[in-house]
Amino acid sequence: MKKAMLACSILVALSSAQFWQELTLEDFTLRWATVSASELAVELSGPTTGWVAVGFDPATAMQNANIIIGYVASGVPFIRDDFGVAPTSHAADTLLGGSHDLIIDGGTENAGTTEIMFTIPLDSGDQYDKPLVPGNTYPIILARSANGQDSFSAPHAVAATSQIEILGLSLDGSTWGGLKAPEF
Ligand code: HEM
Repeated sequence: MKKAMLACSILVALSSAQFWQELTLEDFTLRWATVSASELAVELSGPTTGWVAVGFDPATAMQNANIIIGYVASGVPFIRDDFGVAPTSHAADTLLGGSHDLIIDGGTENAGTTEIMFTIPLDSGDQYDKPLVPGNTYPIILARSANGQDSFSAPHAVAATSQIEILGLSLDGSTWGGLKAPEF
């Protein structure tokens, strides 16, 4: 009976894992999955002990991107909801008059690599975020700072552009609740 339950748990874990999508680029790994059709769970890692960031749906470089930037200091993840106010600058949504629309799910800094985990609404309603519609493909930007830059205002050492498709397949709320790292 115990063996059957264990096999069943492994099957549930495997079938949940298929809903994560993944992109690797310039030594970044970006993973994303829609959750309950209204949120996007994201994990981003890159080889730096400073910050890593992803920007969704930019116009040019950072301009008009919904940027999420984060670092881990003394084991604690600091992750901020930003917006690209120009091709080469970004600011916190809250400083622009918008709202901070993200949940921090976790973060680690190990062996020179920083990983941040967070969940954002697919459509927060904030003018300083960008709605994401499942089934669509969006341009994205990725960036990371030099080592040791635990600051939202340090410049990047590496920046890259790509695109991702947001699949409509989603992790259901209860499965996601079991997989998700504890909130900070
Ligand atoms: C204080 C923080 C930042 C500063 C001062 C900054 C500054 C700049 C500058 C001066 C450029 C144009 C020259 C260059 O390519 O280096 C640039 C380009 C760019 N930045 Fe940033 N940036 C910052 C943060 C970010 C963040 C958080 C992201 C992504 C989420 C990002 C993504 C990009 C991209 C994609 C480009 C275009 C690169 C290319 O065309 O090859 N930047 N940034």
